[in-house]
Amino acid sequence: MLKLGVNIDHVATLREARYRDDRYSINVEPSPKTAADLTIAGGADSITMHVREDLRHLQPEDARAIKSSVSVPINLEMGLTQELIDFALELSPDDVCLVPEHRQEVTTEGGLNVTTNFAAIKSCTKTLQNAGILVSLFIDPDLKAIELAADIGAAKIELHTGQFANTEPDSQARADSLERLDEAACLAHSLGIIVNAGHGINYHNIEDILTLPHLNELNIGHSIISRSIAVGLTAATAEMKALMESYTVTS
Ligand code: PXP
Repeated sequence: MLKLGVNIDHVATLREARYRDDRYSINVEPSPKTAADLTIAGGADSITMHVREDLRHLQPEDARAIKSSVSVPINLEMGLTQELIDFALELSPDDVCLVPEHRQEVTTEGGLNVTTNFAAIKSCTKTLQNAGILVSLFIDPDLKAIELAADIGAAKIELHTGQFANTEPDSQARADSLERLDEAACLAHSLGIIVNAGHGINYHNIEDILTLPHLNELNIGHSIISRSIAVGLTAATAEMKALMESYTVTS
């Protein structure tokens, strides 16, 4: 079964828009923890949270509250800072997905530069693995990066689908980006790495994503949270899960 990780960061984005300076106000809403429960009720297989260095949306206390209350695995996305490594060791999520982080970006733009940051990523991966946390690397569909992920000993990669998501349906650019993702998934799988994918996946382009081989989990945030405005989070999650049902996991 292809799993769905729901990224709930944008629930906190909405809260911060109003209550950044008064998160303990009696009026504070919406609650990321309630959102996590609602997505699980809709069939989410895991909850993904990105506690950013600049704390622009989720706060460490959100992550702690969700980790201690939900029954599904937690996937913590984080940048490579000592402060966040310490936080991950304290939180002890099931998975950590290492992502690049730039303060100016609106959302995570581009995968990790595994070549430039090889030593830091390897050291962080070992530290987290020694604490029993599975480490995933968020990388572009680049064959060199995948070989380096294998050298690092990462259990998983998350293929960055942002470039794919920015292409027009049925265009040559879409076909080319799918081919790159396909080759990357095949190489990672042949190296024994579990393949996840995420960023920019929505209710429309998921049809093309489901043509890719060897997928284990999709991490989806913005489109599910956006759809929830119309139908609620449980239904929005269930709709996405229903679209994923036809996928056959290849061994
Ligand atoms: N995976 C990673 C590593 C991300 O950084 C993000 C964005 O926070 C997502 C998945 C989800 O992307 P989107 O919100 O576009 O679905």
